[in-house]
Amino acid sequence: MSAQIIYGKQISDTIREELLQEVEQLKQQGITPGLVVILVGEDPASQVYVRNKAKACEQLGYHSEVIRVPAETTQEELLALIQKYNEQRNIHGILVQLPLPKHIEEKAIIDAISVEKDVDGFHPESVGNLMIGDDALLPCTPSGVIELLKRTGNSPAGKHAVVIGRSNIVGKPVAMLLLRENATVTICHSRTPNIAEIARQADILVVGVGVPKLVKKDWVKPGAVVIDVGVNRLPDGKLCGDVDYDDVFDVAGWITPVPGGVGPMTITMLMANTLKSAKKARG
Ligand code: GUN
Repeated sequence: MSAQIIYGKQISDTIREELLQEVEQLKQQGITPGLVVILVGEDPASQVYVRNKAKACEQLGYHSEVIRVPAETTQEELLALIQKYNEQRNIHGILVQLPLPKHIEEKAIIDAISVEKDVDGFHPESVGNLMIGDDALLPCTPSGVIELLKRTGNSPAGKHAVVIGRSNIVGKPVAMLLLRENATVTICHSRTPNIAEIARQADILVVGVGVPKLVKKDWVKPGAVVIDVGVNRLPDGKLCGDVDYDDVFDVAGWITPVPGGVGPMTITMLMANTLKSAKKARG
């Protein structure tokens, strides 16, 4: 048996077409979704991410602002900038690209973003809403994982989902979203004994730890859905995930490639969050 490949780019394109129709309806009511992306400094990877976010806005007809400020910007200056956009009515989403320079406290910046405009879903109140099950803005990569599952007919309801990794931006929120979708969820991490044995019990295995090719075929139950959130660069420059794709391919029922699996979903879910925020602002 060999796995069916989950092509994130195709699913992402479909969602963007759906969003475009909703945007057109909203525009007829005189509202254009607006996103501001703030980049502090000149980190090359961050510059690429920010460019891609602006491109997605352009494709969907959003109002988009990219604010580039120097690495020496003070925390107070950055807070003032966030405050300005918290108050600006044509902006529905504020994203401060991470990581930030060391002299700026990340938590202070995330806390300052108005929860209504927190399209990253990183604000403590957004995290609380995720736990409680309120209709909140959900973090983008984790909600992209759920979309991939649902849109390939792999609804998590009633399944045993095993999440490997407990980060605030992937592992914990993915686990909570899977629980919301009525999966039975186990979270494994670096201090878990017998991870392979637990992973092998998963109907849905989600991996986000940042260890290249950690998951081998003896970690996977035959027919399981394997979602790889890892993006690692190998010494030869190639990208690979946290799953040993070639090794697992013949065992899994479904698998996401890296690149081209979860990755394309993140910006699309950011666009969905910005639209959702714009709709709420209207109401
Ligand atoms: N840097 C890398 N990924 C992300 C993300 O999803 N949001 C923000 N704000 N910064 C990032």
